[in-house]
Amino acid sequence: MCGIVGYIGFRNATDVLLKTLKRLEYRGYDSAGIAVVNGELKVEKRKGYIDTIKSDFKGTVGIGHTRWATHGVPSDENAHPFVDCKGEIAIVHNGIIENFMELKEKLIEKGHVFKSDTDSEVIAHLIEEYYEDSFKDAFIKAVNELKGSFAIAAVMKGQRRIMAAKNESPLVIGIGDHENFIASDIPAFLEYTNRVIVLKDGEICEVTDDFVNIYDLKGNEVKESITTIDWSVEDAEKSGYEHFMLKEIFEQPRALEDTLHALLSKDMPEMDFERVHIVACGTSYHAGLTGKYIIEELLHVPVYVYYASEYRYMPEIEEKALTIFITQSGETADTIGAAKRAKDLGNYTMAITNVVGSSITNYVDQVLYTNAGPEIGVAATKTFTTQLMVLYYFSIIFASKKGKISKKKANELLKELQKTGYYVERVLGEEDNIKKVAREIASAQSMYFIARGRNYPIALEGALKMKEISYVHAEGYPAGELKHGPIALISDNMPVIAIVPEDELYGKMISNIKEVSARNAFVVAVSSNNDVKKYADTVISIPKTNYLFSPFTNAVALQLLSYHTAKILGRKIDKPKNLAKTVTVE
Ligand code: AGP
Repeated sequence: MCGIVGYIGFRNATDVLLKTLKRLEYRGYDSAGIAVVNGELKVEKRKGYIDTIKSDFKGTVGIGHTRWATHGVPSDENAHPFVDCKGEIAIVHNGIIENFMELKEKLIEKGHVFKSDTDSEVIAHLIEEYYEDSFKDAFIKAVNELKGSFAIAAVMKGQRRIMAAKNESPLVIGIGDHENFIASDIPAFLEYTNRVIVLKDGEICEVTDDFVNIYDLKGNEVKESITTIDWSVEDAEKSGYEHFMLKEIFEQPRALEDTLHALLSKDMPEMDFERVHIVACGTSYHAGLTGKYIIEELLHVPVYVYYASEYRYMPEIEEKALTIFITQSGETADTIGAAKRAKDLGNYTMAITNVVGSSITNYVDQVLYTNAGPEIGVAATKTFTTQLMVLYYFSIIFASKKGKISKKKANELLKELQKTGYYVERVLGEEDNIKKVAREIASAQSMYFIARGRNYPIALEGALKMKEISYVHAEGYPAGELKHGPIALISDNMPVIAIVPEDELYGKMISNIKEVSARNAFVVAVSSNNDVKKYADTVISIPKTNYLFSPFTNAVALQLLSYHTAKILGRKIDKPKNLAKTVTVE
């Protein structure tokens, strides 16, 4: 996910571009850049935040970009805008050009010289290749060559127009008086205009000071209506959601699909291993613990999961293991310290992270990325479920490679994995009921989250989310452990959130619910089985999935439960007290 902007009108383009980009910084902040046309084309771009762009280019036409790296590490060379060989055409792009290698090879044969590792640079060279005497025609021809997702804006030396195109990445046009705007999201230009055209997939747009023409891919004109927006700038940044956390919870179907799509389009690294160690902190640790159940079930190799802060100082272990580090930020000091140690001890290492080029990637042999896009809320949500996606994918692929499951079984499981976005979408549809349950438990001083097997880590994660953002004391336990001590604390009406999937342990969970009910707990069951209503005080209904995949749906239901509890209690949901999004200290 990146942010793109464009401006044409009577104001200083540099000022408008930097201001509008700043409003899109939440979409990525690996690098930034602008291109301004004032007869000549001038470009400034750099690794780092938008504030590092200090140019004072004069001109009233331009485009800008803030990057969330996907192809190529964050660097000055990989920053947008990209220019063609002559430095006359500049483009910015958000999305992934899937056929860029093929296009790049063809363009190199024709003599084009590339300066970056990105997929985006091909767009500038393609426009150059097609340019005869019309910037618009060359742009349309170039867009027709692209496969994948894109929102693109382009400018050219000597031209007073911006060309733009959209396919599967957002792009909106802001309509002003003798000025027009382009952006990935409405909030970028909302202080200048609230009249917008939301482009559709396959549309191309020509924007000048006084008109906006929209075309289909064949170059035929298309009519689109102007909508007037009545959101405030702040509302708009969160796309109308009250908090980033809620927005990110609702982004999960898309994030899961993007993550799986990226994994499917890549070859898995070759690795030989007899045992696995997983090392992480907080929510990422809970993803690792879920991964243990899935890897052991499908691969039948032992998996040990460690807190990174403990792993760093453990006595040396003789046996070597594939050691997997999970960190959404890629910057957590404990996890990086643990990765250095694992390498020093001679282990083969792999990271699962959401941030391309983050520090952890420098200390491991292999990296698998989640494709969740930037996560702003301190509480991890979409990065957690996409970590699960990577771990499930890893387990299925290696179980098949190692001959632990048949190719047919692997394909069946991959098909199920592809449905997780759909099932998560259905959990999101239960939000009103979850809100109601939140009202029933919000006054509690303390809660337990219980589950068994592969959902035990989801109980831990549910309790962590609840503590983090609602500040209510919550503990997660394996349901069978309650009777060994924690049941002593059950008091009248204490909420016990029980995860009851329809799997091999369903009956055992019902027995555990009866145990706490008998001690007057207020039981909230998270289940796809209606029968559970007989035993629980209230139920969060979720869709039935293949038993192996229930952690996804349960996790999302509990994210919504903690979000709504925290909201009822009036907490600072996106920035809870005492916490930071990235913990770079030991
Ligand atoms: C999650 O909601 C927390 N904010 C926290 O536990 C987090 O998961 C932990 O600090 C690890 O972060 P990382 O994934 O960036 O390494």
